[in-house]
Amino acid sequence: MEIKATKATVDALLKNKNLSDEELIALLKTDTLDEYLFACADKIRRLNYGNEVYIRGLIEISNYCKNNCYYCGIRAGNAKLSRYRLSKEDVLSCCREGYRLGFRTFVLQGGEDMFFTDDIVCDIVSSIKSEFPDCAVTLSLGEKSFESYVKYRNAGADRYLLRHETADNEHYGKLHPETMSLENRKECLFNLKKIGYQTGSGFMVGSPYQTYETLLEDLRFLQSLKPDMIGIGPYLTHQDTPFNKFENGSLALTLRLVAILRLMFPYALIPSTTALGTINPNGREMGLKAGANVVMPNLSPTSVRKLYSLYDHKICTGDEAAQCIVCLASRVESVGYRIVTDVGNVKK
Ligand code: 5AD
Ligand code: FES
Repeated sequence: MEIKATKATVDALLKNKNLSDEELIALLKTDTLDEYLFACADKIRRLNYGNEVYIRGLIEISNYCKNNCYYCGIRAGNAKLSRYRLSKEDVLSCCREGYRLGFRTFVLQGGEDMFFTDDIVCDIVSSIKSEFPDCAVTLSLGEKSFESYVKYRNAGADRYLLRHETADNEHYGKLHPETMSLENRKECLFNLKKIGYQTGSGFMVGSPYQTYETLLEDLRFLQSLKPDMIGIGPYLTHQDTPFNKFENGSLALTLRLVAILRLMFPYALIPSTTALGTINPNGREMGLKAGANVVMPNLSPTSVRKLYSLYDHKICTGDEAAQCIVCLASRVESVGYRIVTDVGNVKK
């Protein structure tokens, strides 16, 4: 007999009970409990973080990438894309602007671009840390060796984001070429933790070939990793990828997962992602109400924002981009939270 999810299932999560596989899958499939689920997630979020929303200034340092993930618009095989790299001076001026606006975390994200050698990355990181000693630096530069991660950490990097994308081996193989492996991705994540980074992982919701069973594996993997940060967003189609015939992921399922993650990981830093804001004009507000407590406005120079095109129709790429922080602050307040000027470490 198939198990049904009820309010009691949500209550069990709220009390920090570990649900069975069947219960979790039932909850993922149920759309009638969302209101209650989001209210419970918000309760836990407020218990741990009050109404505070942390901001991270996202600086997209390069759209060159040696990889060829089938879902991603900046994949090496996309010959239509014009490529750019930011210089250290570009990055520092983004940070200066960000600092003035109240950012105390800078996230340097980029494709796996071999131009950025360890020495170059370390030089940028240590320059930011010496000019802004009260700020955290987060890196999101993909899979690197243990030694490289150690070097970045010694240069001053505090946090690292590396989504696992899917914790199911077969599914991983359908999203990535053979040159990439889930095993290596997982090893990187455990290395990052071992080295002492505040570590973030996550996955796309509704990526091609995803099932409720693979989502269950994602949740179980996160339980074993115990990340400080968990980023999820709907899969969104990009016209110049092999997956361009696949539909976008579901907003509703993404929000349900945000709430489930908040209940399973009460202390986690969970962003309401740009992908959520892209699939629905109010997606980020909805993400906050479902338990997210971080937003990551774009601090990249406006001239390159369109080029960092992981998926189609990405928001905040036009002339309005300089206004993002003002826009987001009012969006955050419209749903009962407030942006704070704080380095925003995990509370535990
Ligand atoms: N749709 C949604 N998210 C995507 N990402 C990459 N391509 C897409 C897409 N088409 C996500 C991946 C990656 C993060 C930086 O962006 O999860 O880890
Ligand atoms: Fe970028 Fe609103 S957050 S324009």
